Amino acid sequence: MLILGIESTCDETSAAIVQNGNTIISHTIASQASIHNAFGGVVPELASRHHIERIIPVINDCAKEIDLSSIDLIAVASEPGLIGSLLVGIQTAKALAWSLDRPLIGINHIEAHLYASMMNCENLLFPALGVVLSGGHTTLLTIHDIGEYELIGQTVDDAIGEAFDKVAKMLNLGYPGGPVVEQMAQSGNPYRFPLKAGKVKEKPYCFSFSGLKTAALYTLQKESSFYSQDLVADMCASFQHAAITDLCKKIQKACDEFQPRAIFLGGGVTQNNALRKALSSYISLPTFWPPSLLCLDNAAMIAGLAYHKWKRNPFDARFTLEPRPRVPFLSKNK
Ligand code: KG4
Ligand code: ZN
Repeated sequence: MLILGIESTCDETSAAIVQNGNTIISHTIASQASIHNAFGGVVPELASRHHIERIIPVINDCAKEIDLSSIDLIAVASEPGLIGSLLVGIQTAKALAWSLDRPLIGINHIEAHLYASMMNCENLLFPALGVVLSGGHTTLLTIHDIGEYELIGQTVDDAIGEAFDKVAKMLNLGYPGGPVVEQMAQSGNPYRFPLKAGKVKEKPYCFSFSGLKTAALYTLQKESSFYSQDLVADMCASFQHAAITDLCKKIQKACDEFQPRAIFLGGGVTQNNALRKALSSYISLPTFWPPSLLCLDNAAMIAGLAYHKWKRNPFDARFTLEPRPRVPFLSKNK
């Protein structure tokens, strides 16, 4: 089954053609990072305008060696995300579905991030622990099958990627902050500033990164008004160490309690190599990370997950699909 996936939830415009949920036939991603960099974060109005400009060229590029009439299904990321950005993807997908007379399915972007680490895994071991670490989500869940999840915990304030971005902004490191914080941290001292992520009362698997970010700000204000290279590197290293340690400890605790057979991770922050290395020292279970191209927002994970969703529920959403900007991926947590 050939599926055309479209992704435009935030600041990447992407299209992909994926066969049977795992073979990527073609894939195009146009990032807007350089446009938002000057603002230290994504500007929603600019994002939707750029999606409008790029979505057709991106789809054309992705389909340059494939006749679109051979596509069986069109999948679009329809939740959660920025409303204007979602609308561009959904309206384009609807127009294509009508013109090609093919069915349409809406896909949850967060679930697709998680699927990115399962996509090329031949032997999916369930029950598993799922970990979503992105700019908008920090979520722990148990996975019983693709599409069957139970929420264990999530952030009560900032998402982990958001905290990386905000610390980068304080240090004038641009957007997105995660990659540059990770790079600066390599030459920094992670023990110079004793930072810690927050605990959430009676919710051992929930996260709080807002206090950590504020502690980083107060520490910087006390230190100096001039941010030397050493200060920036030490702050990046100390912040990253605190965030990763908190994450690894909670994942380890969840493994002890829920006894998963494997861990699947997804979302932009999974690109962080310090995190990958640290987690392997806490956990000895099989751990699956998305390949680098599928960590950040991309349409291959949308088209891939759509194959499984369609098999379970082949409902053509051409008439009904609407954007759901703030829908929770899962609700209820410990
Ligand atoms: O999953 P994603 O592309 O978009 C959302 O759905 O949010 O994640 C983007 C987030 C940004 O906050 C970015 O700073 C973070 O992922 N990120 C990283 C790294 N690369 C991207 N965070 C830490 N270390 C990285 N290497
Ligand atoms: Zn994302």
